[in-house]
Amino acid sequence: MEVITKINEMRTKVFSVKDSKKSIGFVPTMGALHGGHISLIRSAKRENDVLVVSVYLNPAQFDNKDDLDEYPRQLNEDIELIRKEEADVVFAPGTEEMYPDGFCSYVTQDKLTDTLCGRVRPGHFKGVTTVITKLFNIVKPDRAYFGQKDYQQNAVIKRLVGDLNMDVNIQVCPTVREEDGLALSSRNKRLNPDERRSALCIYGALLKARAMFASNITDAKEIIEEMTAMIKNTEHTKIDYISIVNDYTLEDLSSINEKALVAVAVWVGNTRLIDNTILE
Ligand code: PAJ
Repeated sequence: MEVITKINEMRTKVFSVKDSKKSIGFVPTMGALHGGHISLIRSAKRENDVLVVSVYLNPAQFDNKDDLDEYPRQLNEDIELIRKEEADVVFAPGTEEMYPDGFCSYVTQDKLTDTLCGRVRPGHFKGVTTVITKLFNIVKPDRAYFGQKDYQQNAVIKRLVGDLNMDVNIQVCPTVREEDGLALSSRNKRLNPDERRSALCIYGALLKARAMFASNITDAKEIIEEMTAMIKNTEHTKIDYISIVNDYTLEDLSSINEKALVAVAVWVGNTRLIDNTILE
């Protein structure tokens, strides 16, 4: 497995793979890898000739400096985890490589970034769309793999790829959870044992939404109120948002007809966690 930190070297590698007509599967990550990342890596490995995993903690997508400072960093451990999955390349550029002095070009998207996380984290998706555009231009993947946990990010990236005619296929893999239901996240490492227990209310609230919908309650407000009460009754939590939206436009729904996305963002102590489920 090659560990590449320079964009030029990555390009040279990509050109030789393309020359041999092999397909490239790509998993972009910010490191601190867990089972969720590994499941994407395994899908990409299975479905492509060459597997590239990037580990790059992208400062441009952090709207909060403390969140960036406290984000777990473990590059050497990540490289070993990726090696075990028999990847071909780890691309781990530094920030001086990705955003050199004088960098001033960004990719932005309207509409889909105005709601949910986009509303509460200004500038976040501009950082995501910019870094993903750069990574796709560098790695030129045939297929790129993302997790269902970041539903809005996937919607934004799919639209980016469609709108700007990027030649890459976006694959979305299911959310991997702990046994008790908590969605795996690099940020879970920051929870103390009390907060870890409290964090479970997020999945509990999503299950509640599913149960209500299954018993024919389709009024979004009623479901959100019930979820809000559950989370508010849990120590150490502060709700960022609970929304029920159209799964394609991400616009608020007042009642659920065929299909809806229930998306939740909750602060547990000083850690912000997100999760979602589809009702249909
Ligand atoms: P990161 O948070 O490291 O996540 C990388 C990928 O892993 C994303 O596609 C995310 O949805 C997926 N993932 C995270 N937790 C998961 C889980 N429990 N189950 C399944 N998949 C999971 O998302 C980012 O990095 C960045 O925004 C990035 C796309 C790399 C751009 O910087």
